[in-house]
Amino acid sequence: MLKKRYTAIILMTVFWGSQAYADGHKVAIASAHPLATAAGFEILDKGGNVFDAAVAVSAALAVVEPTGSGLGGGGYWLLHREKDGFETLIDGREKAPLAAHKAMYLDKDGQVIPKLSLDGALAAAIPGMPAGLVHLSEKYGKLPLADSLAPAIRYAQTGYAIGNRYLKMLKVRAELIKQYPATADIFLDNGKLPQPYSILRQPDLAHTLTQLAKSGRDGFYSGCMADKLVKGVNKAGGIWTKEDLESYQIAERKPVTGHYKGIKITSAAPSSSGGIVLIEALNILSGYDLQKTDEITRKHLITEAMRRAYHDRTLYLGDADFIDIPVKRLLNEDYAAGLRSSLRPDKALPSEMLSGEIEQQPEGTNTTHFSIIDEEGNRVAATLSINFPFGSGFVVAGTGVVLNDEMDDFSSLPGAMNGYGLVGGVANAIAPGKRMLSSMTPTFLETDTQVAVLGTPGGSRIISMVLLAALDFAKGNGPESWVQVPRFHHQFMPDVIEYEKGALSDAEITGLAAKGHQLKVARYPYGDMQAVLLNKANKSLSAASDKRGEGRAVVGH
Ligand code: DON
Repeated sequence: MLKKRYTAIILMTVFWGSQAYADGHKVAIASAHPLATAAGFEILDKGGNVFDAAVAVSAALAVVEPTGSGLGGGGYWLLHREKDGFETLIDGREKAPLAAHKAMYLDKDGQVIPKLSLDGALAAAIPGMPAGLVHLSEKYGKLPLADSLAPAIRYAQTGYAIGNRYLKMLKVRAELIKQYPATADIFLDNGKLPQPYSILRQPDLAHTLTQLAKSGRDGFYSGCMADKLVKGVNKAGGIWTKEDLESYQIAERKPVTGHYKGIKITSAAPSSSGGIVLIEALNILSGYDLQKTDEITRKHLITEAMRRAYHDRTLYLGDADFIDIPVKRLLNEDYAAGLRSSLRPDKALPSEMLSGEIEQQPEGTNTTHFSIIDEEGNRVAATLSINFPFGSGFVVAGTGVVLNDEMDDFSSLPGAMNGYGLVGGVANAIAPGKRMLSSMTPTFLETDTQVAVLGTPGGSRIISMVLLAALDFAKGNGPESWVQVPRFHHQFMPDVIEYEKGALSDAEITGLAAKGHQLKVARYPYGDMQAVLLNKANKSLSAASDKRGEGRAVVGH
């Protein structure tokens, strides 16, 4: 019976997937879940534009991929409107509560209390996702918010069949979830893991989404909902106030841009480190002909570029509303040339040799990305997150909203590692109302003939994944190839190349070790890249969804 329903859902998806704009315009959507991709097409079919579709996909993902993002989290929407070339980054990143302070995750001896910034109500920052959806819809969409939220509300009410990926994530967080009855009620089956393909219904979440649809941001940040959230969070040891919710605002930021061998890169500005680190690494690599070097040298050079760019992430990056970031310098090609001058083709530079005093921090392990483009070139790249799978694991009873554990993306203590092994500095220290530094990297790549839209989840490895995909785009390959590129990663500290099993040949492993690199195979394949491409000359579209995940890429026609 359950399997039958699942089949029906997939068939509906295929049907919706064959639609595009009501007026016959073509659109490509790639997202981490077939039902989210279908929600995007449903809204286009109703007469929405790509921005309405982005609202629908974001909200649908909040329901059908509750492991990765949701109303209790935040994220970034990178937009391009073709008719006037307007581009913006909606920064809907969560903010630290106003009662947050530097030492909030430390014991009386000044040591980090393990898990306090990752599990439970104290780990939750003030969500930005509801405000982001409202803003995106009202300022850039054509349809009422209620229309764009309708598919998500329906999915939450009628339910959907959970997949294997969901179950894997649930297993990882099951012990945590068991501690919170409201969360366990939703996601566990009498305290146990549910069967694969069983139907998950989320009536409370449907209600919360309906309130958002009816009342806009007030439906989440004021009134009953705000009362309920503040009360519930505080009862569970959190520190939210009504003022935190009332005063939350998204920010619109100018995206960061750069150039690499004829490709224009447009990506996320701080509070995400994604765009700056990506462009800095590409600037370093622009001094080499990576197509002509042997594979070992190629991977060595890419690793060394990652090391240097992630090092600057550690030193300089944080919330631009709170600290001065030398953005111009970090994106400057001469600055990159200076970094390149320390790079030897035959030898790794140990990370400890890079200058600058470091203070460290941690980060999380789940998230989502989707990409949309229409044949005119209007587009959205969105990466959204609640941080670790199922965020903090905490749900305020009656809301259906899983709260994030994004506070772990701050530097809890200079020099300490976060959930992603990242070390952070003062630039990313906790402060009231501040946004924690992200690695999310929603990105556009553009040449005279092509426009690509891409991104992925994956914590600190997001940026290196997008970098490898950008280099694959530069080689002339298409989306199917970018999303499948075997991955390797270096983030300055720990000083090690982490690679997917099979991503490096035995000869490459030996060759890289001979240059002085430490290497470690990743426990699992990582990332879930979603990419779309427009060929400007003939307006043809293509799309691809990472085979590591369970997403769906569709070109409507
Ligand atoms: O903002 C960040 O960088 C992280 N919170 C993203 C987390 C993530 O991608 C987890 N994915 N596997």
